[in-house]
This record gives sequence, C-alpha cells and structure tokens, in this order.
Amino acid sequence: MTPFYNEISMLTKSKILEALSEVVDPEIGLNIVELGMVRDIKVEDGVVKILIALTVPSCPLANTIKSDVEKNVKKLNGVKAVSVETTSMSKEELDRLKEKLQQKFGKKAATTGIEKLDKKNIAHIIAVVSGKGGVGKSSVSALLATELRRMGYEVGVLDADVTGPSIAKLFNLTDRPRISQNGILPPTTKSGIKAISVNLLLDDPEQAVVWRGPIVSNVIKQLYSEVDWGDLHFLIIDLPPGTSDAPLTVYQSIPIDGVVVVSTPQDLALMIVAKAVNMARSIKVPVLGLIENMGYLICPHCGGKINLFGEPKGEKAAKKFNIPFLGVIPLDPKMTELADKGLIEDYQSIGFTEVANNFKNNVLKSLVDVSPLSWKKP
Ligand SMILES: Nc1ncnc2c1ncn2[C@@H]1O[C@H](COP(=O)(O)OP(=O)(O)OP(=O)(O)O)[C@@H](O)[C@H]1O
Ligand SMILES: [Mg+2]
Ligand SMILES: [Zn+2]
Repeated sequence: MTPFYNEISMLTKSKILEALSEVVDPEIGLNIVELGMVRDIKVEDGVVKILIALTVPSCPLANTIKSDVEKNVKKLNGVKAVSVETTSMSKEELDRLKEKLQQKFGKKAATTGIEKLDKKNIAHIIAVVSGKGGVGKSSVSALLATELRRMGYEVGVLDADVTGPSIAKLFNLTDRPRISQNGILPPTTKSGIKAISVNLLLDDPEQAVVWRGPIVSNVIKQLYSEVDWGDLHFLIIDLPPGTSDAPLTVYQSIPIDGVVVVSTPQDLALMIVAKAVNMARSIKVPVLGLIENMGYLICPHCGGKINLFGEPKGEKAAKKFNIPFLGVIPLDPKMTELADKGLIEDYQSIGFTEVANNFKNNVLKSLVDVSPLSWKKP
C-alpha cells in the first residue's frame, strides 16, 4: 500500500518541476529544467528539498538561481518549507548540456559562459583589482610586472580595462602589434615585458571606447586567447575598477590563480575593499594579498615620510579579511612623473621593493612551487 504522503509527493514533484521551469539561468537564458540543472527533488510532508547542479562549481549567479527557485516553489500550495542546495555538474551532465545548447544556438554559443579558456603556456595568472577607481591598480600592475621581470621571470601584462586602458601609456608602447601564425604578437617593453592593451589594436589609440558589457567581455577574452603570449611565468591582468562585467569575465573565463587587491587608506575605512574581496570570494577566486597604495607621502623636498592619513591601516584590514598583507606604497611624485612619461619601469622605491619581496615570499613561493610547467624559473 502506498502511503498517502507519497501521492502528495508525486503530485507535488511534477508541480515543482513546473514551477522550476520558470526559473531561467540568467547567463544562458534557458530554464533550469531544460538545462538539466535540477538534479534531485525530495518532498516530505510539505518540506521540499531541491538539489541544483550548476554549470560551473562556483557560479556567481548561484544565489540568484537559488532564490528564484525558492521563490517559485514557495508559491505552490502545500509547501511549508523549501531548502535549495547546489552542486556542480558532472562532466557527463555538462556534455549533455553542451549538446543541447549546440542544437539550440549552434556551435559557438555552446561554450560561452561555461568553459574556462585554457591556461596556454602561462604558469601563473594574477589579476589586480580594487573596489573603486583611481587607487593605482594600473600602476601596481605595471610595477609588479616590472619587479617580476627584474627577478628574471618571463612576464606579460594584459590590460583588461578596455574602456579606460592605461598599460600602453605606462610603458610608452605605441607600435601596432603584429599578427603571426599563432595570433597577435604583443609588443615588448624595454625590459622585455609583453604587454597588450586594446588601444594598441585600434586605428586611433585615443579613440574613446564605449562598448557595453557583452562586447567588453568578448574583447577581454580575445586579448587573452588571441594573443600569442609564448611561454610566461606570469601574466598580470589589470582590471577596471569595481565589480562590473569585466572582473566577472576575467574570474569566470580566464584561469587565474588569484587576485591581488589594491586599496588606498580611505577605502579601507569605507569598506570598499570588502566589496572587491567578497566578489572574488563569492566566485571562489583566491585573494592572494592586499597592497595599500598611497599610504603615506614622500616629501618631494627632503624625501621624508609624511603620514597624510594617519598610520597606514592596510595591515589591520588584511588581517580582518584574513589575507596576506603585501605592504604599503607611498604616494610619491616621482612615480607620477615616471608614469606620465611612460617610464614606469624606471621606478624604484623602498616601499615597492618591500611589496615585491612580500609578493615573492608569500604569494610567489606557493605559486611557483606548484608550477605545472616543465620549464623552471630562471
Ligand atoms: N603611489 C603613487 N604615487 C604617486 N602617484 C600615484 C601612485 N599610485 C598611483 N598614482 C597616480 O595616480 C593616478 C591613478 O593611478 P592608476 O591609473 O594606476 O589607478 P587605477 O586604479 O588603475 O585607475 P583606474 O581605476 O582609472 O583604472 C595616476 O596618475 C598614477 O600615476
Ligand atoms: Mg587602471
Ligand atoms: Zn620635506
């Protein structure tokens, strides 16, 4: 004899599936039932448990999907409580999904948003981020690349700030990249860093780029995948400020090892850093360290140290977020001057050398130790 509740559950399960078919994966634009994302439904006594398999393990849209599922199922009669768990799709499930997408949209769409681009012959990819603009991400990206180059590594810099590129200018690069059999050849800086920036590829480098989200994402992916980076120990990615599409694209599609967060003393107080840290963490991107930029002023007259904003707060903040603190970079007029002349590679300061050493000792050590490549660091 079938117990009564089973009959309810039978009934409710199909109703639940119906309700779930109204939940659309925002990234792919198809409903989650169609996508085969509903792995399991359990109903007992009005309590509904749903297991959703996401396309990527740490899908940034997991929470949206979760709350949509909850909302839709809660509306059903007789539902007392809903709990939604997520997991990620198995290889077989993904293959099935790809096939389905291929049928629906043709070959090209099938891979978008699901797969990470391959790692090429690059040992480590590190993105430089911040919660807001103007804190010195581009300068720090360029300096970090410079220091790594000084240590003897093969280094590349990708300017992912496609609507406000600054990497070419920092390194005084103006030559249009050449195209080889293997893709776009990135120009090299005078110390031998390979750098690519979208304005190097435009007819008019000064041209304002007003692309919207999806195009920005595609351009970033192309700057990564269509450039012939050769063998690199490090690729540094300079991100645009904030938590827009661009960082999301980089986190989702480029196989980065982690992010380095740059902040100024002011945003440490305003918790702007928390935004950047949380975004990375919500997508399970490791936060490799915090750099406090413009922490104090170097007096242009006597070279003395002036604590403009009181004592630097970065170390405390880093502790709070439980990430390594990589050090304080002073506000140094010499750096602005060199940056403006495209001579950022000539900049040297005690502050930044310390940062680079901390990077080397904390971050680099663990990264290089797990290098998947057969070629070793020089
Ligand atoms: N430590 C510093 N000392 C002096 N000037 C600095 C320092 N850091 C950055 N600057 C200057 O501040 C300005 C902004 O820096 P930068 O472009 O690196 O910031 P950003 O975070 O990349 O900005 P955006 O958000 O616009 O991309 C530049 O003119 C740069 O030369
Ligand atoms: Mg910048
Ligand atoms: Zn002075």
